[in-house]
Amino acid sequence: MNQAEGATIQAETAAERLLKESPTQVDTAIVIDFGSQTAQVIVRRVREANVYCELVPYDADATVLDRLKPKGIILSGGPESVYAEGAPQLPDWVIGSGLPILGICYGMQALAHALGGRVAPSDHREFGPARVQRVAEHALFRDLPAEFDVWMSHGDRIEQVPDGWEPLAVSPASPMAAMGVATRVGVQFHPEVAHTPLGRMMIRNFLFDICGCTGNWTSGSFIDATIADIRHRVGDDRVLLALSGGVDSSVAAALIHRAIGDRLTPVFVNNGLLREGEAEMVQEVFGRHFGMNLVYVDATDRFLGRLRGVTDPEEKRKTIGDEFIRVFERAAVEQSGTKPFRFLAQGTLYPDVIESATPDNKAAHKIKTHHNVGGLPEDLAFDLIEPLRFLFKDEVREVGRALGLPRDIVERQPFPGPGLAVRLLGEITEEDLAILRRADAIVRQEIEAAELDDDVWQYFAVLLPVQSTGVMGDYRTYAKVCAIRAVTSEDAMTADWARLPHDLLARMSSRIINEVQGINRVVYDISSKPPSTIEWE
Ligand code: XMP
Repeated sequence: MNQAEGATIQAETAAERLLKESPTQVDTAIVIDFGSQTAQVIVRRVREANVYCELVPYDADATVLDRLKPKGIILSGGPESVYAEGAPQLPDWVIGSGLPILGICYGMQALAHALGGRVAPSDHREFGPARVQRVAEHALFRDLPAEFDVWMSHGDRIEQVPDGWEPLAVSPASPMAAMGVATRVGVQFHPEVAHTPLGRMMIRNFLFDICGCTGNWTSGSFIDATIADIRHRVGDDRVLLALSGGVDSSVAAALIHRAIGDRLTPVFVNNGLLREGEAEMVQEVFGRHFGMNLVYVDATDRFLGRLRGVTDPEEKRKTIGDEFIRVFERAAVEQSGTKPFRFLAQGTLYPDVIESATPDNKAAHKIKTHHNVGGLPEDLAFDLIEPLRFLFKDEVREVGRALGLPRDIVERQPFPGPGLAVRLLGEITEEDLAILRRADAIVRQEIEAAELDDDVWQYFAVLLPVQSTGVMGDYRTYAKVCAIRAVTSEDAMTADWARLPHDLLARMSSRIINEVQGINRVVYDISSKPPSTIEWE
């Protein structure tokens, strides 16, 4: 077993312990993943109701019941037909568990199929909005009107409900748009998506009325349980953490520090490619405010030295990643003293974990280890601590707020590991870095002053390696061009250029040209991703 696998298995054992030893057992539900695009969205909806939830592959075995002690099971949708060869089937233990079940779309069909109902291809496939009408009472629909709008996306439909079950609702193309019996229920539509306006209410009805959850999974209960777990795992040992100043590593640091105090050593590497004020802010918050044993390494000269003459974007990234490992490893050795570090902490999040364990990946235990800080090598001789590996980004932010991290950190826009190097096109010089830093600070100040920072995903300046002619006062100038990049996005996979107000663009342009020597022209990037990317390199 290599180090990374060993570490992952330990992390999972820790999660099990977290649930077992948590002083108040938190309410839990599981979502069985049949391959739907929206399976993750179901998990998020459940967690929004303060019920802890994990996504489980459809071929997981019954041990998941022992591990998570769920109060209910939700079956996700999926792209298959239950009769197709190799279509994922409902595991026996789901029905055998006696627990409440909510089947969604394919999940409902798999449930009907397993219980002897009849599922058949529909003449009228339903994709998009539909209106359903209730035909019988069920707790799932408590406080809902007799008719309501839903989002459908199915080819097959239920033609006969299993023995003892009852049709609960109809839609124009589904004679059984919902079916139920006691604590078990299936819906043909998708309650988890925003296009089903009353979907959240149904999910809450399922969790609270049918499963008997109380909604006791909060950032407070997460913090208490995680701190207890970290103390238990770490014992008297020491933990090393690469602090980037981004949301994930910052929240991980705050959490671990609360658990073990000075036995955590966060290392912050200034690679000379940071934004204006960033290195000072990190030292202020973590060193002075939280009183952490922060190790600040100013490696500017080393990074800029190695980047001299490098213009290719991928080579820049590789050089920076490589140098980061060297600097970090040296700092680890220097800091280890008489008691070397046993653990390395990372801010891995739940979407990374899920992505590595989709239903297609039968070996779900082989979750790959993500190195989200500067690309640490897999053979580092540490056990991993990943206290955020079961959280989504917005939950991490909530935990960060509860731990008292300032807004500047918790609400921070993503900043790439290679920093300004991928926003300064061509060769990197200290002089150009200084120009870019100033221009970037103006972009950030103005967007924040216009209170648009919550609406815009990322906003920054880019310095182009071209010069253009201008005129300032009585003088002709020949200086660099600055591009402003501001995008809206959900997850950085796709992005649209932000429709910023013209007067805001005018203010940024005027301030940059007047205040930043070396720039005489500002352009606004109006490209979306795809086909462009968010960063320019
Ligand atoms: P692109 O430019 O590919 O960026 O549209 C998508 C998201 O990823 C960030 N990004 C990086 N983050 N190391 C990182 O840690 C990198 O090399 C890197 N390149 C891009 C980018 O800021 C955006 O949020």
